[in-house]
Amino acid sequence: MRNGAGWRDDLLFTPGPLTTSPSVKQAMLRDLGARDEDFLGVVRSVRCRLLRLAGAEAGDHEAVLMQGCGSMGVEAALGTAVPRAGKLLVVANGAYGRRMADMAKAMDMEYANLEYPENTAADPRDVDSLLSRDQGVTHVAMVHCETTSGLFNPVAAVGKIVRDRGRSFIVDAMSSFGAAAIDLGEWHIDWLVSSANKCIEGVPGFSFVIVNRAALEKCAGNSRSVCLDLYAQSEAMRRDGQFRFTPPTHAILAFHQALLELEAEGGRTGRMIRYRESNAALRGEMRAMGFAEYLAEADRGWIISSYRYPAHPRFDFASFYRLLKDEGFVIYPGKIGDADVFRVGNIGRISVSDILALTAAMRRALQTLGVTGMAENALDRTA
Ligand SMILES: Cc1ncc(COP(=O)(O)O)c(C=O)c1O
Repeated sequence: MRNGAGWRDDLLFTPGPLTTSPSVKQAMLRDLGARDEDFLGVVRSVRCRLLRLAGAEAGDHEAVLMQGCGSMGVEAALGTAVPRAGKLLVVANGAYGRRMADMAKAMDMEYANLEYPENTAADPRDVDSLLSRDQGVTHVAMVHCETTSGLFNPVAAVGKIVRDRGRSFIVDAMSSFGAAAIDLGEWHIDWLVSSANKCIEGVPGFSFVIVNRAALEKCAGNSRSVCLDLYAQSEAMRRDGQFRFTPPTHAILAFHQALLELEAEGGRTGRMIRYRESNAALRGEMRAMGFAEYLAEADRGWIISSYRYPAHPRFDFASFYRLLKDEGFVIYPGKIGDADVFRVGNIGRISVSDILALTAAMRRALQTLGVTGMAENALDRTA
């Protein structure tokens, strides 16, 4: 199907950028001045709606918007939260967790690692014993939905330990916020980072951090960066409602529309229901075709799913990808550790019927490649 600009929009089964609604795209067809009241009103509305979505109170928390991709929001949160004399514990079981350690290193921040294989959720008991051993750690950072594989980490249990041990908690909820249940208070999250082009279904251009006001107020002068200083950004937003430097005006207009559409869908819960239905349909279809999941049943999330390449001599991922792309479906390549896998996301403006269209195209692609007997072999393996 061609969109208004004459392009055929692919359906994106990826972790973002995602398929967006026509009205979200339409909202960008407007030029606004960065310092103009029309734009500042949209920014106010976005920040206020984000707090409401997070279940946070305006006096206790703040939604700070930061230009750039999601990783920049994470880097801004780490660099602003952890003081020069502080130490960060990074709990990692995938690329996004490991990226936080890379950031700490690049910022010359003292840090410790608690690393797990990519198919294994973090164990809160390990966090507890590390925090009891290493009194120097002031902050703990972890990813909620580790989009590398799709697993959810036990953020609630880790948050309780971090609070009991008197440390601060930073959570990368990039691919879960807006759809997954997250309780900032109960889970003791001081800094939560997400971005425009994930479960809220906007377009790329900025990230946002929902931060505890009391934690943020202690952070003047912490940042190792001029641009990624969340404290300074928040001061500017509080003072006159403005970004310090050029804002992504069109992406913010799209995001505002995306927030209205999220609210109309029944908020976070409505969105989660759609995503879970799509994920259930995907997993059922993939199983029926004979694809093996990378994660064990108990560890599987519902945002993105990882599948092993079939052990069939005629399966070639590049050709499989290309055949799907030719039909307008984009899946997500990627290796996890030593395992050859590809991923299929089910966030964005897609529904069960889109999933069924994708899996029908996968069946055609497998037939074209001559990959037969997968389902029978999978049954043999589980027999
Ligand atoms: C959990 C998580 N963290 C961080 C990122 C990085 O976001 P970006 O690619 O926008 O920098 C992603 C992207 O998919 C993610 O899923």
